[in-house]
Amino acid sequence: MEKIVINGTKPLKGELYVTGAKNAALGILPAAILADSPSVIDNVPDISDIQHYITMLRKLGAGVRFENHRLTIDPRSIRPENIRNIDEEVKSMRASYYLYGALLTLFKKVTMPLPGGCNLGDRPIDQHVKAFNALGVDIDKEKISKEETNPIFDGHCDKLTGADIYFDLPSVGATINALLASVKAEGVTMLYNAAKEPHVVDVANFLVAMGARITGAGTDTIKIRGVESLNGCEYSVVADQICIGTYMIAAAATEGDVTVKGIIPEHLDSVTAKLREMGNDITSGDDWIRVVGKRPLKGVTVRTKPYPGFPTDLQQPMGVLMCLADEDSEIYETIFTDRFQYTEQLIKMGADIRVHRTKEMDGEQKEIDAARSATFRGVGKLKGAEILSNDLRAGAAMVIAGLAAEGQTIVSGIEHIERGYEDIVGSFRALGADIKKVDFN
Ligand code: EPU
Repeated sequence: MEKIVINGTKPLKGELYVTGAKNAALGILPAAILADSPSVIDNVPDISDIQHYITMLRKLGAGVRFENHRLTIDPRSIRPENIRNIDEEVKSMRASYYLYGALLTLFKKVTMPLPGGCNLGDRPIDQHVKAFNALGVDIDKEKISKEETNPIFDGHCDKLTGADIYFDLPSVGATINALLASVKAEGVTMLYNAAKEPHVVDVANFLVAMGARITGAGTDTIKIRGVESLNGCEYSVVADQICIGTYMIAAAATEGDVTVKGIIPEHLDSVTAKLREMGNDITSGDDWIRVVGKRPLKGVTVRTKPYPGFPTDLQQPMGVLMCLADEDSEIYETIFTDRFQYTEQLIKMGADIRVHRTKEMDGEQKEIDAARSATFRGVGKLKGAEILSNDLRAGAAMVIAGLAAEGQTIVSGIEHIERGYEDIVGSFRALGADIKKVDFN
């Protein structure tokens, strides 16, 4: 079994470029199958989630080539009878649910398992269902219920018809799925309270490059005028906001000096603000951000929010930095009901963290035990330990903890990290870290 071995406390120094955004690419790949001709997509990250999606598209019948971050997708031979071949792949990743929207547009009928993905607590799909219903799709809600041992999404319609859709909360997944199901619907669709994340905008931009008529992406109201057909296009995926933030926090955690290039700095405004509040120096230009880590670090309060708020995907790395402060900090996790499992690993490294649990109602009005906030005592330093990465962003947090800790840290469960970070070990090594992957078999 491969693990990451880190000898910590070396300040990270230098420049790096990050790859294209995972969560944009995972919406763009299913969007590409709506075209009548092939698309060429550049800056696609070479990570296991993308490889997994490519496997699903190939099993559906698409022609796919992936070389040097350039992905060519020819959707012309996708067939509805192939949908049943991807059940296992669908179950093991979250973004597989974009195939519901895309395949409804293509075939007006989809039967597929519910998606898997990181265990972050309750992750219902009621807003996706609401959007599909509004567009005219009949969905058997019993089959989606948590009571089912093998829940499935079973939807069909005669045609998709434009509609007004008001989301009860801004959901990245539901917004992208509504885009995929409405781009070729008859008439106009309005999405209200839509998600505004950079990856949502990137998927909309890709669809527009294919000939879709979409305005307002990046605001909370998106207008889609259905078109008859979409053509393949050439596109380059936007730089990954979450990877950029991960490297920024790692620079601060190691008292380093790191410049991330080829990016849109505004995507990181909330992160920049918090890193500055803690006492770090941040400067930026048109397409770069430089982080110089400082000591002592002050305590801060972080509330995760939909974009442009502080991203939930960076709260775990931020939790590590809070441990290194001289004052106490608080995190309020408003997006997911259980994203503090990683704190147990940090406690093994000398952290002092208290997670506050409360009772909440889930989407089906059942009581659940939710973890919505945590207090991070500023202990100033961490010490190396054997720790486990139990989801993707927790894994990135564990690596940052190892980079900042005194002594040796060994991180297992690195397959989670490889789902979303391309060569994280090589990237940190290029910045001067003492880090390597070791096969412990
Ligand atoms: N929600 C509902 N009903 C729905 C959909 C969402 O109640 O029908 C709730 C969720 O339970 C959550 C909130 O709405 O409380 C936001 O969820 P959202 O739908 O925005 O999340 P997602 O689409 O499941 C994507 C990313 C996540 C990222 C979140 C939030 C992808 C493939 N995943 O998930 O990324 O944390 O948005 O920004 O885009 C990651 O990359 O590590 C990751 C987990």
